[in-house]
Amino acid sequence: MNAVPQPLGPLGEDDILQWLREDDEARLEDLWRAADGVRAACVGDEVHLRGLLEVSNHCVRRCAYCGISALVPGVSRYRMSEEEMLAGAHRARRLGYGTLVMQSGEDYAVERDRLSRVIRQIKAETRLAVTLSLGERPQDDLAAWREAGADRYLLRFETSDRSLYELLHPPHAGIVSDRIDILRRLQRLGYEIGGGVMVGIPGQTHRSLARDIAIFREMDMDMVGVGPYVAHPATPLGSGAVRPPDVGAEQAPCTDQMTCKVVALTRLVCPEANIPSTTALGTVAGEDGRALALRRGANVVMPNVTPPAYRAAYSIYPGKDTSVETADAWQERWGERLARMGRTVGTGPGHRRRRFYPDRKM
Ligand code: 5AD
Repeated sequence: MNAVPQPLGPLGEDDILQWLREDDEARLEDLWRAADGVRAACVGDEVHLRGLLEVSNHCVRRCAYCGISALVPGVSRYRMSEEEMLAGAHRARRLGYGTLVMQSGEDYAVERDRLSRVIRQIKAETRLAVTLSLGERPQDDLAAWREAGADRYLLRFETSDRSLYELLHPPHAGIVSDRIDILRRLQRLGYEIGGGVMVGIPGQTHRSLARDIAIFREMDMDMVGVGPYVAHPATPLGSGAVRPPDVGAEQAPCTDQMTCKVVALTRLVCPEANIPSTTALGTVAGEDGRALALRRGANVVMPNVTPPAYRAAYSIYPGKDTSVETADAWQERWGERLARMGRTVGTGPGHRRRRFYPDRKM
């Protein structure tokens, strides 16, 4: 059994916290180098491409920060037909991706049985790995989709600070939202699970971010997505209608650097996880920022395969890049860039590897 590489020693929550508070560029170089080394040793030089298909922007939830929440007026709402979803899958296949990520708001008109049919057809016709990211759906839906062949599920828990979480996520249908619990159930259903958080939510402290990262490890997450919080003026949090407590100097900034710290520390505590360089990071830091995350622990990119006609309507936050993100732009501009970074485009489905942790911990 190989020992897990720990270039900075075993990282407890207080060590993680110290790194999150570290501002000295020279010392941070050690963090970047360590994360890149663990990335290379544990998941290799392949960068896996996942085709992101935004299947519906309808949403019943009222998350205080999100531009497609039910609260936001004036969003032009769309929902793809089964044919459109299938066409998206074939497009991802043609572009050479190993995974299709189907994402939407929490939209109950994306019905259990209809989606099960689509998943079965996608698996039969394309052999792609299928990742779902459809919100906090009931257990029966999650079980049926797993049965239909879905491989993975993404559900960011956004923050482990329970009071901040509840301020930002009003209950739906009288049920208090508990995404950590849903993630555990997804794990038991046999999904690879993806958690994650936004970095720099107003009211989010360095300490609570350190806890988030410890939870990624405790739950043995297969995927972790983190991006900076980007204020959306049409949302209650963005407009100031919802005001988390002022945490002063303890406030984690919503910067590219803080996001990279979280990515790097996540790589160190979850050496085998698939970690994307996210669209939100690209939005605040441009293509260079996205490349930076790939040098600081990330190993996945999710080019957008949503048809252009729908893309602008999937406006989770302002400035969300809808052009650079396109699959075609990716092929043109990033193929070469990756090669220069000594990385290759991943082949196959890019499942979570299990070399150091052959069994689930829980
Ligand atoms: N800024 C940054 N990320 C956001 N998300 C939603 N709204 C915003 C925002 N205003 C992220 C959440 C969600 C994911 C799909 O998008 O983390 O889980």
